[in-house]
Amino acid sequence: MRTQVGIVGAGPAGLTLAVLLRRRGIESVVLEARSREYVEHRIRAGVIEQGIADLLVGAAVGQRMQREGIVHHGISLQFEGGRHRIPLTELSGGKSIVIYGQTEVVKDLIRVRIDDDGPLLFEVDDVQLRDVESERPRLTYRHEGGSHELECDVIAGCDGFHGVCRPSIPEGVLSSFSREYPYGWLGILAAVAPSSDELVYAHHERGFALLSLRSHELSRLYVQCRPDEDIDAWPDERIWEELQIRLGLPGWTLAEGPVLEKGVTGMRSFVVEPMQYGRLYLAGDAAHIVPPTGAKGLNLALHDVSVLADALAEWYRDGSTALLDAYSATCLRRVWRAEHFSWWMTSMLHTPEHADLFDLKLQLSQLRYVTTSEAAARSLAENYVGLGVV
Ligand code: FAD
Ligand code: DHB
Repeated sequence: MRTQVGIVGAGPAGLTLAVLLRRRGIESVVLEARSREYVEHRIRAGVIEQGIADLLVGAAVGQRMQREGIVHHGISLQFEGGRHRIPLTELSGGKSIVIYGQTEVVKDLIRVRIDDDGPLLFEVDDVQLRDVESERPRLTYRHEGGSHELECDVIAGCDGFHGVCRPSIPEGVLSSFSREYPYGWLGILAAVAPSSDELVYAHHERGFALLSLRSHELSRLYVQCRPDEDIDAWPDERIWEELQIRLGLPGWTLAEGPVLEKGVTGMRSFVVEPMQYGRLYLAGDAAHIVPPTGAKGLNLALHDVSVLADALAEWYRDGSTALLDAYSATCLRRVWRAEHFSWWMTSMLHTPEHADLFDLKLQLSQLRYVTTSEAAARSLAENYVGLGVV
């Protein structure tokens, strides 16, 4: 088999790339290790920057998001028993965010891909990259009991942090930069109307908590825990108890409901440079990870593939490699801004297990500053709604 772009991974990055390329008349084949059912139900992100929502609308995959997504114009930061609103739209020159689950984005992308008759193979095993340095890179894989080979012009590595694309680049080519955090997030999806119209990021001596949502009927909530936390030690009652303590305020109650899903996520910062090698281009979590506090992972993944789609379109149109050659540098500027913002939000809001009082005083001072100084709040707002290249 032959195609123009071989895409490994049907997460948000790989699927969006396939759709964007199709809109530009470029063929691709998407290879995904998991089943359609699995990728459509993996609960992850929920905050979409306005520019990224516009990208989805421009690619004609945003109709349901426009109908069902909830536009937010602010978030709150809570600390020392007070809740303080950051008016995102007012401070960012009119920008907002859309609350719409990553699972829904993935479902919409898969439906469009299938409507486009674009090849999308699930439950593919043993994907291997070959001849990436040559002009005819290949992907070999197993699917439905047979061995297959896909000859491509280029390969897009959209297979997430644990994928095969990044490790297939020879040693010594990539530099990696990382930070592990001694925190995890225990997240739940609950069948109860959100108790706040906007997201609440809460600093608390017992640890961070976040109130978010997926719809007017579904709440999404997180509590800081250890990265290796045993989920079995957290029956639903304990989770609600902890959420009540950390998010609670006099005169306000957190409504509880049936827990539909729960899981623990570790937190890390990670970047590889460059994001390209020969005819292989890495995009999304395959190239970089951010801790979730800044809500940037999905947004960065979609930004990468929009840069890649434009670069490939220029190459196919007039043979120019200028944008392709600049792919890594273009993406990394935004990646590092998001890395800094996510690290900063994480450091400001999480409580170390053995809290150092000096660190705690710094956190509280920073929170007070960011909620009282318009200049500081504006900086948070413009990063949160999505900065262009800085
Ligand atoms: P992935 O979604 O990881 O997709 C990679 C795909 O490749 C997967 O489908 C995988 O099965 C497949 N794959 C892997 N290996 C192979 C292989 N060998 N062969 C074939 N296929 C393979 N981001 C935000 O922007 N906002 C948020 O609010 C937010 N909240 C989050 C909350 C949580 C709890 C978590 C865990 C993440 C959150 N993120 C958030 C991050 C966001 O979910 C990720 O950054 C995003 O999924 C990255 O998309 P991706 O397509 O690059 O990678
Ligand atoms: C959600 C996740 C985040 O990481 C975040 O910062 C805000 C909201 C969410 O899943 O809704």
